[in-house]
Amino acid sequence: MAERSVNWRLSPEHAAQTQGLVVSGFGHLPYGRALLLHHEGEGNGWVRKIAEIAPPTPADGKRLKRGSAIAFTHSGLQAMGITAAGPPAAPDPFVEGMFETNRSRRLNDRRDGEWNGAVVPEGPHWSGNPGGAEQTPHTVHALLVLYAETEPDADAWTGEVEAALAPCGVSIVKTLPMELRPDEKGIFREHFGFADGISQPIPYDATPDRTSSTVIGDDGEAFPEDPAHGVPLGEILFGHWNGHHEYAPGPALNGDTSLALNGTYMAVREYKQDVAAFWKSMEAGAAGILAADPDADATAENLAERVIGRTVDGAMLGPDGPLGQDDNDFMYFDRDPNGIGCPLGSHVRRGNPRDGLATKPEQKKTLLEAANRHRILRRARKFGRGLPRGAPDDGEDRGLFFMALNTDIQRQFEFVIQTWIMNPDFSTLYDEVDPLLGPGGPMSMRDRPLRRIVDVHTYVRLVGGEYFFVPSLPAFEWIAKQ
Ligand code: HEM
Repeated sequence: MAERSVNWRLSPEHAAQTQGLVVSGFGHLPYGRALLLHHEGEGNGWVRKIAEIAPPTPADGKRLKRGSAIAFTHSGLQAMGITAAGPPAAPDPFVEGMFETNRSRRLNDRRDGEWNGAVVPEGPHWSGNPGGAEQTPHTVHALLVLYAETEPDADAWTGEVEAALAPCGVSIVKTLPMELRPDEKGIFREHFGFADGISQPIPYDATPDRTSSTVIGDDGEAFPEDPAHGVPLGEILFGHWNGHHEYAPGPALNGDTSLALNGTYMAVREYKQDVAAFWKSMEAGAAGILAADPDADATAENLAERVIGRTVDGAMLGPDGPLGQDDNDFMYFDRDPNGIGCPLGSHVRRGNPRDGLATKPEQKKTLLEAANRHRILRRARKFGRGLPRGAPDDGEDRGLFFMALNTDIQRQFEFVIQTWIMNPDFSTLYDEVDPLLGPGGPMSMRDRPLRRIVDVHTYVRLVGGEYFFVPSLPAFEWIAKQ
């Protein structure tokens, strides 16, 4: 995923304890491997082995030649005899898992007991299978992400890790080759060709009565609250002041709540992208518009841009054409309230409606603040080889390995999917979902003077996923010592 230069960082004390993935997507290390691990047997000798050969990289901003990030599923911790209980009041998504029946219904992965059309037909291949429930054929205990400068080094490191972990009873459920190479324009694109990784929440230290700041800028001074994308640090790291005016609670490891500090949760979804089907659907949609209205400005590319809500190069769509590439502080209420430029149901507008759900000017501020209580820090990378636009499908696996950091899975990741992305009644729409991620169906777009409705196909499918705990470095060392 693309890395916009974000100039916030953690104070040295917290940076030394936090995994580097929190502050950066390792953009300077364009190659990588996501390894989904399963451990058979007792004990945690395998975690000690990881500590030797691929220790998680700290968030101190040093640009090393290799980077690593580690995260555990609930079943992974449980298999090592570690309990990880969340706050007792509510069902805990981390404990229950992403494919627990009620959760997967709310995430729209399951409808009337069946997997929906945007999940691979046989059902998801992998999860943490929490509680031993047979939700998926493969059980994942940990995710190890290796980032490298070159493809041969990514390969070599993966080989070293596999060889070292096999004698400890660890098998690799899946290895996804991830890459992040910018194109000739310097843009990082996902497989459909769109600039990705642009809009992110920007943390600041919101702790009352503090004397120093945990989030700092390049000058070492307190990082100010960003008016458009500012979120309290506790939205992405446990133990810090969050958007609900409390220290973000994390899981208590063996009853100890202090071990959560500087850790977080990661929602992971492996999405398969069918590039040929996407562009075929866009061609068909544009042809349908032109058949009804030969004067319409309809091309596969501009329809695709309206599915996403940005141009292929990442500029936000305004009512009078694309805005500047760097304009990410764009607010919908003043500049495009009816979705004439950026359709109300487009992927970015659903993913983060900003102040766009306000119906009166006096609601703008409250609704922007409310939307910012549901932000996720995206650290996705694409996997698989690219397929040029217009080429027929080659049967190869490619897609997006979506990783999103947040401290409250229910209020952040699940809310975004349930209330915005997969909500058939989102904004003023009716009976349609995210045209990028949902099963195929209608997508309506306001236009001058018409409203157009296009039927989009299914081109993104979920292959597996789970909620993971991303420990702080001291918590990782603690897990390795148990
Ligand atoms: C194959 C899967 C996906 C693809 C290809 C994809 C692609 C994109 C692209 C091209 C953008 C615009 C550029 C940017 O701001 O980064 C974007 C933005 C975004 N996406 Fe996705 N995405 C995928 C899955 C998801 C999922 C599963 C979620 C949420 C659970 C999500 C949430 C968001 C959010 C929150 C934004 C930023 C909106 C904003 O702040 O303006 N995406 N995505």
